[in-house]
Amino acid sequence: MATSSSTQPRDTWGSKLGFVMAAAGSAVGLGNIWKFPYTAGESGGGAFVLIYLMFVLFIGFSVMLTEFAVGRKTGLSAVGAFKSTDRRWAFTGVIGVLSGLLIMGFYPVVGGWALAYIFKVGGGLLSTPEAIGDSFGGFISDPVQPLMWMGVYLMLNIVIVMRGISGGIEKAGKVLMPLLFVILITVAVYGMTLPGAMAGVEFLFKPDFSKVDSNVVLAALGQAFFSLSLGMGCMMTYGSYLKKKENLVQTTGMVTAMDTGVAILAGVAMFPAMFAFGMAPSAGPGLVFVVVPQLFAEMGGLIGLLLALLFFIGLTVAALTSSVSLLEVVVSYLIDEKGMKRSRAVISASVVMATLCVFASLSLGGVGPTLFGTGAFDIFDLLTDKIFLAVGGMLVCIFAGWRLSRSELEKEITNDGKVSFPLFGLWYNLVKYVIPVAIAIVAFMGIKSGFDSGKGEIMLVGIGIIALAGVFSKKL
Ligand code: PFF
Repeated sequence: MATSSSTQPRDTWGSKLGFVMAAAGSAVGLGNIWKFPYTAGESGGGAFVLIYLMFVLFIGFSVMLTEFAVGRKTGLSAVGAFKSTDRRWAFTGVIGVLSGLLIMGFYPVVGGWALAYIFKVGGGLLSTPEAIGDSFGGFISDPVQPLMWMGVYLMLNIVIVMRGISGGIEKAGKVLMPLLFVILITVAVYGMTLPGAMAGVEFLFKPDFSKVDSNVVLAALGQAFFSLSLGMGCMMTYGSYLKKKENLVQTTGMVTAMDTGVAILAGVAMFPAMFAFGMAPSAGPGLVFVVVPQLFAEMGGLIGLLLALLFFIGLTVAALTSSVSLLEVVVSYLIDEKGMKRSRAVISASVVMATLCVFASLSLGGVGPTLFGTGAFDIFDLLTDKIFLAVGGMLVCIFAGWRLSRSELEKEITNDGKVSFPLFGLWYNLVKYVIPVAIAIVAFMGIKSGFDSGKGEIMLVGIGIIALAGVFSKKL
C-alpha cells in the first residue's frame, strides 16, 4: 500500500491489480483460515455458513462499496474522511481507530502462533500425531513462549509499516497467497478422500436451523465484517489511494469473492478431516493448529512435511498482510490527525498493541484480570467482532445515506457516469434504509441473548464506549 502524510501529495496505487491484491491481502487473513472454521464449528455449521453468506452478499458487499466510495471521494483516511464532511461524525472514525487497536490486541498473538508453527512443524511436530492436540493446548497456555512469538510477529509488522507497505510484503503476498490457495485446495481434496469425511461436508453445507439463535446470527454478521476488513475505516483508507478511473463496483466484487472463496475453502479443508479424525467441530480457536498438522501427518512423508511448512508460511504471510492494514489505520490517524512522524506513530501504536497482546496471551493460560468472568483475549474479540465493526458499518451506511447526497454518491461510484451500475438504486436503498435497520436488529437481539452466555454485559460496555465517543465527538 502506498503511504503518505497530509503534507505530501497523495499517492495512488500503481496498478489496478496492485490495489485489488492489497485490499484482498487485508481481507484474507486469520479471519478466513483460523476464525471462520472454528466459529462455524461452534455455531452449528451449515445454517451459520448460509447466514454468513447472505450477510456477505447483502451487507458486506454494499458496505465495502460505501467505504471505497467515501474514501476515494474525500481522499482521506478514517477520521479525516468523516471530519472533512462534518465534524460531528469524527467519532465514527475514532471508533474505527479504537477497533484497530483492540483487534491488534489479540491478532498478533494468533499471528505468533502461526509463525511458531512453521518452526514446530520443521522441528518434528508431525512425527507424533497423537500429541498434536495436547501440544497446542500446552503451547498457548504457556506464559512465556507465545509472548516471544507474538513479539517477533509484531516486530515484523513494525518493520513493514515503518518502511511503507508497498515493499517486500506486497511481493511476498503476490507469490504466497496464490500458493496458499493451491495448498488449501490440495488439503481439501485430500481430506475428502479420508473415510467418514462426507459427514464434515454435510455439517458445513446442510443447514440445521434448530441450531440458530440470535447469538449465532450476530456471530455471522461479525464474522462477515471482520473477514472483509469492514466497519473500521480500513477499506476507506485503502479507497483514498484509489485512482479516479478505477471501477469501484468491480473491485468490490473481486475482493468480496476472493475473501469468501478462501473462507469456504478453509472450511472444506478442515471439516471433512475433522470428522474423519473423530474430533468435535466445536474444538474452538485451536482448530486450524490441530487439524491441519494432523492431516499432514496422516499424509506422511516428505510431501506432508513440505505442504505443512508451506501452509504455515502462507498463513503467517496472510496474517501479516492483514495486520499491517490494521496497524496502518491507527498509524495514519496519528500522522494525519495528531501530526506525528511516521516512525513515532508506529512505535506509539505498537507499544499499546503489545501491552494489550500480553494481557490477551496470558488470559489463555488463565492469568490476568477478567471482566464479567471473561479474559482479555475474548474481551477484545467480543468487543470488536460483535459490536464495534457492526456498529461502525452501520454508522458508515447512515453517514453515506443521510449525510452525503445521492447524486454525489452516484457520481463517485459511476466515475461521473462513465461506468454503468444498473443496481445503483438497490445499493443506495440498502445502504440508506435496510442495512442500518438490519444491523440494529441483529445487534439488539444478539446482545439480549448474549446475557444467557454471560457475554451480554461486555457487549453493553462496547455500546457504552460508542455512546461516549459520540458525546465527546467535538473534542476528538
Ligand atoms: N480481515 C482480516 C482477516 O480476515 O484476518 C482482519 C481485519 C483486517 C479486520 C483489517 C479488520 C481490518 F480493518
